[in-house]
Parts: sequence; C-alpha cells; structure tokens
Amino acid sequence: MTSLDEFICGAPKAELHVHIEGTLEPDLMFALARRNGIDTGYNSADDVRAAYQFGDLQDFLDIYFAAANVLVREQDFYDLAWAYLQKAHAQNVTHTEIMFDPQTHTDRNIAFDTVISGLTRALDDAKAQLGLSTGLIMCFLRHLDEEAAERTLDQGLEHRDKIIAVGLDSSELGHPPEKFARVFARARNEGFLAVAHAGEEGPPANVAASLDILQVRRIDHGVRSIEDPALVQRLVDTATPLTVCPLSNIRLGVFATMAAHPLKRMLAAGLKVTVNSDDPAYFGGYINENFLAVAAALELTQDDVVALIRNGFDAAFLPATEIAALHQSLDAYVASAA
Ligand code: ADE
Ligand code: ZN
Repeated sequence: MTSLDEFICGAPKAELHVHIEGTLEPDLMFALARRNGIDTGYNSADDVRAAYQFGDLQDFLDIYFAAANVLVREQDFYDLAWAYLQKAHAQNVTHTEIMFDPQTHTDRNIAFDTVISGLTRALDDAKAQLGLSTGLIMCFLRHLDEEAAERTLDQGLEHRDKIIAVGLDSSELGHPPEKFARVFARARNEGFLAVAHAGEEGPPANVAASLDILQVRRIDHGVRSIEDPALVQRLVDTATPLTVCPLSNIRLGVFATMAAHPLKRMLAAGLKVTVNSDDPAYFGGYINENFLAVAAALELTQDDVVALIRNGFDAAFLPATEIAALHQSLDAYVASAA
C-alpha cells in the first residue's frame, strides 16, 4: 500500500450510490439459497464468481436479477443489508445512502413490507451499533412501465418516513427519463427527493432530460456527460453531483480501461464527482477498492482524493449541520495524517 492508499482507506467517507441487491456476495447467496431451498443454478461460490464476466449492462442485470431470487424473508433482507453496513463501516464510510429495487421482489410475490422492514431493521442497528448514518432510495426499474412504478410509489408512500428519495435504474438504453415524468412529479409532490441513473450507457441527452423532466438532485453515473461541453458547463454551474462508480464502468465496458476513465478530467472540469461502488459484490470492490483503483490508474493526488470525498459529503441528502460535521471529521483526519 502506498501512503495515499492508506490515507484513502482510513478517511471518513460517504457512499451515495450502492444498490443493496448488488452487495449480495456469492457466499451469502449460497447461504440464503440453502436456507430457503432455492437452486441458484451454480455449484459453488467460485462458479458464481467465474460467471461475473459482463459484456454490457444488460448482461450484468440478467445475472443480478436472477440472484435476487434467494431473498425471500425479512431476515434475508436484514442479513443482506447488515453484511453491507458492516463492510462499509470497516472501510470508514460514516454516511451511506442505499438504493433498493422493490419491484425485483414484489414481482416475485415478496411483500413490500418484508423488504423494507428487513432493510430498515439493519439500518437502525447500524445507527445504534456502528454510529453509521443512512438513508434509503427507492428505485423504479426503467425496463418496466410507468404504471408499475406508480404502484410501487403507492407502496413506498406507506413507508414515507423510511425513504428519502426515489431513483431510476436498470436498462438505460430504450428507456429514457421521459417515460417516468408523471411518477417522478408525483413522488416529488409527495416530498421525496429524486435521483436517476443517466449517461451510463445512454447518451448525455438522458442526463439533461433527468434534470429537466425528472428534476433530479443528483445524477447516478453521468460519466457520458463529458461528451457534451454545454452539458458539462450546466452541471458545473448548477453544482449537480454525479455519483460515479469507476469499477462498475470498467466491468460493464463503459470504458475499456481504468486509465481511460474520465474521472480525473471531470474533476478538473469542475464537476461535482463522487466515488461509489454501485454493485460491489459483482464489480470487484467496495468504496475503498474504487478509490484505490482510480487513484492508481489516474495518478490522483491527496488533494484530488479529499476533493472527491468532500463532494460526497456536500451531495448527501442530509441537513447542513450534519454535512458540516462530516467535513469536520475529514478536517481532523487530514490534520492527523499530515
Ligand atoms: N442496477 C444495479 N446496478 C445498475 C447500474 N450500474 N445501472 C443501472 N441499473 C443498475
Ligand atoms: Zn447504479
């Protein structure tokens, strides 16, 4: 480990883009499959890992949705979230905003209540036992229709106190933000904040439409924004955060190599980029591994790393006092590391 690597690992951080279903490690997948009498179609956890070679986003999504079949009972959702929260805590994440895909479960006749009660019980334990602050983001699956998202919103509204924002994920190509204009408007009117995946595989126009039509506060990924200078200027002027996930982008073929990843250019352009893990069980690492990979490939400095961490704090859906406290924790850490 270089001294910058040690700095990264020890630093307090926020994570703003992680799908709880994407934290399902092969060993837990097998344990849950056994507990629930489900055949995963794999012989061993090593077989599962070997299958994690993805040509593109859809390749990944097919495997990711199939794996979620092992999640059946409230305790399964608890165990899934608790495993991630312990891992995040061990990597010095002090605030995390976790996405979940209710439709992946309700479409298998798992009750929305089962999903959200298992997740929130783990989040409550993380607060009490680890001092980890958290939020939940309810995502709509964009390959399904808007009526299905409306029904999901109805269910989410019964748990509005547990959910900070709505999001939009799954297959970007062929499912532009416009498709979800009405359900996002209703979610915002009901008091939810909004985020959306855009400019991952899809064009920069999806980023602009997510801002204009869905009125999102943050863009998830947004890496293809760099192709459109006018959009970059707009994102800089409005200080719109982009939750970038470097290992995900390489594993899904958005960029051929980490050396070709635009994160450093985006930071230099003044974009409010943050570093996140997306689906860490599938893409080879949690938040620290993402930071380490970009730091090495793009020759980041400690100042770059600090800027990325501070962007994550600023972009968190937290009151200003709590954001200030996160910055102070980093000030103290930087001073102690000097
Ligand atoms: N769901 C989980 N990970 C995703 C990603 N990277 N893009 C779109 N939907 C997702
Ligand atoms: Zn994502």
